[in-house]
Amino acid sequence: MNDFDFDLFIGAIYLVAVIFFVLGLKRLGSPKTARSGNLIASLGMLIAVVATLVDREIISFELIIAGIIVGAIIGSIMARAIKMTAMPQMVAVFNGLGGAASALVAAGVLHGNIADGTDMSMDVSVTIMIGTLIGAVTFSGSLIAFGKLQEIIATRPVTFPLQKTFSLLLFVGILAMIGYLVVEPDMTVFIGLSVACLLLGILLVIPIGGADMPVVISLLNSYSGLAAASAGFVLGNVMLIIAGALVGAAGLILTQIMTKAMNRSLVNVVFGAFGAVETVSGSAAPVGEARPVREVAHEDSAVMLAYARSAIFVPGYGLAVAQAQHQLKELGALIEAKGVAVKYAIHPVAGRMPGHMNVLLAEADVPYDKLYDLEQINDEFSSTDVVVVVGANDVVNPGARDDAGSPIYGMPILNADRAGQVIVLKRSLNPGFAGIDNDLFYKENTSMLFGDARESLVKVIAAIEDL
Ligand code: TAP
Repeated sequence: MNDFDFDLFIGAIYLVAVIFFVLGLKRLGSPKTARSGNLIASLGMLIAVVATLVDREIISFELIIAGIIVGAIIGSIMARAIKMTAMPQMVAVFNGLGGAASALVAAGVLHGNIADGTDMSMDVSVTIMIGTLIGAVTFSGSLIAFGKLQEIIATRPVTFPLQKTFSLLLFVGILAMIGYLVVEPDMTVFIGLSVACLLLGILLVIPIGGADMPVVISLLNSYSGLAAASAGFVLGNVMLIIAGALVGAAGLILTQIMTKAMNRSLVNVVFGAFGAVETVSGSAAPVGEARPVREVAHEDSAVMLAYARSAIFVPGYGLAVAQAQHQLKELGALIEAKGVAVKYAIHPVAGRMPGHMNVLLAEADVPYDKLYDLEQINDEFSSTDVVVVVGANDVVNPGARDDAGSPIYGMPILNADRAGQVIVLKRSLNPGFAGIDNDLFYKENTSMLFGDARESLVKVIAAIEDL
């Protein structure tokens, strides 16, 4: 086989891998086909990796094989051990590691070129620097996102005086260092650049908090793709450029969906501190202020549900924590058998990752046609007898709709409060991820059913069966 044919062959294999990626991505669009989509995309990645290894005529595979074994062991243990509720944190770490890998590739190539005394063209130097910038920002930003999702770091916006000015000056400093390095490659200045980029990643994510995290996570996901694409440019690998561009574009589309779901602009998310608790005013009382709520017993909840004409279930993050999806489905089937029309209302940012509720409910085999998006169902709440809020909080906070002083004002919510009766299943009056109180709990038509969601559902189911 001559050289030309070989290149063509590798190109064709890459094309097959790309087709697998695109088909996989397409299938990831629906919970029904997501599992096979994941498999197809993984197969595409395997093809791409093998083709790259063959293409690069690597003569020693020992280190690569050792890396694959160690990585596969760590990956399998993590995937098996990780709790469903910790999945968003794991995704944040994955994004971060993707960024770190790209930055390390850029550093390795720069170091090699300096050591060999290779003259780098302007485009090579610039791509190395851009790869470092995006990779390092993605890495440190994702670690902060991980900390916020794990609630090791305050979920509210963390700000300090002159923060924006400091970040801006840092960014200007980074541009200056990049300019210098393009002309005069030097490892010491490069290390300075890397540290500055890591600091920038921290400063960009730390002031974003509360309900804005979904946007940040999808943005970091997009950055990790861009970082991979820039590593592809650095290494001259078309496959990596395409794969990175696909992740970058998919992440950007997701970011756009999330900003729309939050009714926010991207600029606003990145540069404004949405969810800053200190701005709480109006009827959104400070968390913990004593206001009377109505508690309800399991038996009374059972009566409300069994004799309703219609019910809407609103799942939230607490459903994932309680792992109560099977019980929720059971309750739905039970009251449906009694003639109650049951629907599930899915808020786009309920839970801690895009599609979180869909995944949970799919696990419990809740039929897809019972799941309704916010726009589809929001007008139906006012004509619904009973709404059961299961571990949701921010996504049903009427302050976001009615109280211009609320920190999450403007975020679209499910209009659960407009139903005839609302039963809220949660353990306490504690706030949700945004850290703010919820007026829904104090409304006249709201009854609080305190306790772990799964335990409460089991008791309500038993009470309905006893009726
Ligand atoms: P949250 O507002 O976070 O509220 C969840 C509620 O579940 C809490 O108030 C908690 O109250 C309750 N809970 C926890 N464990 C429970 C259990 N075992 N049994 C019963 N209840 C339990 O949830 P949400 O309404 O789904 O809103 C999501 C929030 O997360 C939004 O602010 C969103 O912006 C943010 N966020 C979303 C994403 C994505 S992409 N979806 C990513 C990052 C952040 P108790 O402690 O009183 O039980």
